[in-house]
This record gives sequence, structure tokens and C-alpha cells, in this order.
Amino acid sequence: MVKRQPFECGIFEDMETAERYNEETKKRIQYLSGSFVSVAKKWGTVTGHVLDVGTGTGLLAIELAKNIPDVEVIGLDLSDVALDVARTNLHELVQPSRVSLERGDAEDMPFEDGTFNLVVSSNTLHLITNPVRMFNEIHRVLKPEGRFFISDFRRSWLGMVSRHIRAAYSPTEVKALLSQSKLNNWKVNDYFFWLSILSKN
Ligand SMILES: C[S@@+](CC[C@H](N)C(=O)[O-])C[C@H]1O[C@@H](n2cnc3c(N)ncnc32)[C@H](O)[C@@H]1O
Repeated sequence: MVKRQPFECGIFEDMETAERYNEETKKRIQYLSGSFVSVAKKWGTVTGHVLDVGTGTGLLAIELAKNIPDVEVIGLDLSDVALDVARTNLHELVQPSRVSLERGDAEDMPFEDGTFNLVVSSNTLHLITNPVRMFNEIHRVLKPEGRFFISDFRRSWLGMVSRHIRAAYSPTEVKALLSQSKLNNWKVNDYFFWLSILSKN
């Protein structure tokens, strides 16, 4: 197993990087969002408030709003430039007001307890300095019956060629972090490139 090597700074700092990421990611998010939408619908999360942690340029938040017509989605990110690109992306929505964007830290979220019906996150966990704090924040901002679905890279030998995969967690590490957190009723699905952490039922 490749040794984990965290990023020094996992936050988009310049517009050029955020715009390039946005273009490179559109197709992937369209594909990935299908599993978020179908899990949300399976759980019956068809109304209420959804939080996308580490929303980046907002692509997943926008896909959720497009495909689950009665939810309000909030995208949270620490990067001002990523949020600027996300604001531009919102123009493609018929009802852009259904997605709002907030600058803030996944480890110290600017939301009241029990606000959200669903918390999602994609490709962000490996960039978070203290994932247990992020899990605890997800637990705090979720309603008691709320659900979560977090997807991220899975560390493997491919970490030799990708610094994102090198910074990612193995399934065993992620389970250990979850066990230290207040989140409960979770399961970890383990694929070759990805892992997902989601409410068990
Ligand atoms: C690789 S991008 C993923 C964006 C989007 N979720 C996607 O799947 O395309 C990771 C995002 O997490 C944000 N991020 C990193 N650390 C964060 C933190 N502590 N709090 C909030 N956002 C953070 C970065 O600014 C960046 O926009």
C-alpha cells in the first residue's frame, strides 16, 4: 500500500485552476450525480434541505437541484474562486435560487444544528485536515432522521501516479475515523477507485 501523503493546501486558490477543474469535471459529475440522486430518492429525500460539503464549482449541487425538483441545496466551500465559478454555473438552472452558496469550513460549518435532510460530499474528504471533525459537523447539522452520502477516492497503488489518490484514505482508515466520530449507522462501500460512506438505511 502506498503511504498516505496529505495535501499541504486542498483549497482552490486561483481562478485558472478552479475554471480548469470545472471544465474537466463536468462529465464526471453528471455521471456521479446519478448515484447521489438515486440514493436520495430511495431514502425518500425529495423535499427539504440538502448540503453539499466541499461543493467546489457547484456542479453536484446543481445536478441535485435539477433532478430532485423540491429540494433546496446549499453548497459549502472554503474557496472564494471556486464559489465564483459556481455562481456562474448557477445560470444554467431554471430556478437558480434553489441553490445557494456559502463560504465556510467543513470542520466548523456555519449552520444551525439539525438543519439538513441530506448531507453529501464528493471528492473532498481526502483534502480535509481533520475528517473526524467534518464527520462530527455532518452529524450536528443533520436532522435526527437525516442521511449522508460521502464519496471520495480510495487509496491504492494508483497513488504512485496520482497525488489525489495518494492523499485519499483506505477503507480501513476511513472506518477507523468514522468510529472515532459521532456519526453512526454508517456503512462503507469499497470500489477500486472510490469509496463511499453512507447511511446504512
Ligand atoms: C476536489 S474539489 C471537489 C469539488 C466537488 N465536490 C466535486 O466533486 O467536483 C474539493 C473542494 O473542497 C474544498 N475544500 C477543501 N477543504 C475544505 C474545507 N475544510 N472546508 C470546505 N471546503 C473545503 C476545496 O476548496 C475544493 O473546492
